[in-house]
Amino acid sequence: MSLPDLHIGPVHVSPGLVLAPMSGVTDSPFRRLVKRCSGDAVGLVMSEFIQIEALTRGALRSVIRMSFHPEERPVAIQIYGADPGMMAEAAKMAEDAGADVVDINCGCPAPKIVRRGGGAGLLRELPVLAEILDATVAAVSIPVTIKIRNGWCEDSLNYMETLRLAEDHGASAIAVHGRTRLQLYRGSADWDVVRKMKLAASIPVLGSGDVLTARDALDRFAATGCDGILIGRGAITNPWIFRQIQDEVDGRAPFAPTWADTVDAIESYLGWLADMYPEKVLPGRLKMMMSRLLKGFDGAADVRATALRMDDPRAMLAYIEAACRGLGIWDTPRDFGAGGGATVETEAEAGSGSEAVAA
Ligand SMILES: Cc1cc2nc3c(=O)[nH]c(=O)nc-3n(C[C@H](O)[C@H](O)[C@H](O)COP(=O)(O)O)c2cc1C
Repeated sequence: MSLPDLHIGPVHVSPGLVLAPMSGVTDSPFRRLVKRCSGDAVGLVMSEFIQIEALTRGALRSVIRMSFHPEERPVAIQIYGADPGMMAEAAKMAEDAGADVVDINCGCPAPKIVRRGGGAGLLRELPVLAEILDATVAAVSIPVTIKIRNGWCEDSLNYMETLRLAEDHGASAIAVHGRTRLQLYRGSADWDVVRKMKLAASIPVLGSGDVLTARDALDRFAATGCDGILIGRGAITNPWIFRQIQDEVDGRAPFAPTWADTVDAIESYLGWLADMYPEKVLPGRLKMMMSRLLKGFDGAADVRATALRMDDPRAMLAYIEAACRGLGIWDTPRDFGAGGGATVETEAEAGSGSEAVAA
């Protein structure tokens, strides 16, 4: 088997493995971390979602969220809101910032966003989504894509209708997270939705939800025939996951980083964070990462608890190195196990500082 690749308009996404947008997580330093760990096995990276009102009034935080490093390319910038004119303006700003793709968020479940008609709220207002697509597609020359949930609730699973609308109004691809808005992150993502959409679609269809291991990804491709897979939470715990998928496909043993590799990668991440944010932001970001990474070995809970009490990022990494050396696991390949070492957390747990949860 080989991994599929896809074209989103003129943008070649090869392979069809995409870092999913995650508010509070997939900023430029995190995207660079994933590229550093997984290299060319990442076909596309997506930004955190950016609010169109904040972006179009030039709010610094939003403009920073739109920035990226050339080594991340191709990059999709995701925007959210409900006003077609402002959406078009924000899409143009993303294009001017150099984005390869602009994506419209139609899946965020946060109350403060859906109340104002954005995110998953658009799934209940398909005529508005049509207007948004018309306005953005007319405003930019880069491809416009949408990311949806399979519906608002079990009684209104309108993914097929949304697919048709996306095709008719110029979207270049559609990604679906197979849970409803009301479901949030409960239960499992329904990948049969992805299979059905792929069978009917004339544009690329990508699936999202609960891919935690290389095997999960290969099984989802085989079961659905989809053009691409988005990986979110699995990449927080294991930024090497894209590379491991490619290794599986190429018949190599999946790359198993040691703790030495892990700390080395985190040191790079810390440097990129320091380039982008004020010093005071770094401990929080690093703790978010370390609380997920420091798992899967005897004594991990103690090491994690001590590390997370430290406020100096460099001291934290030095402590982790000393602890892993002391436990004799510094140079031992990490075992990601059947679950890829990943735990599936909710958006609220994973992105504590994110707009998505500040609802
Ligand atoms: C912390 C967090 C933040 C998220 N933020 C966004 C977002 O900004 N835009 C979006 O379309 N989806 C967002 N999602 C949803 C993910 O892109 C993805 O569809 C979902 O987590 C299921 O995939 P996974 O099981 O691989 O994580 C977020 C998910 C998490 C966990």
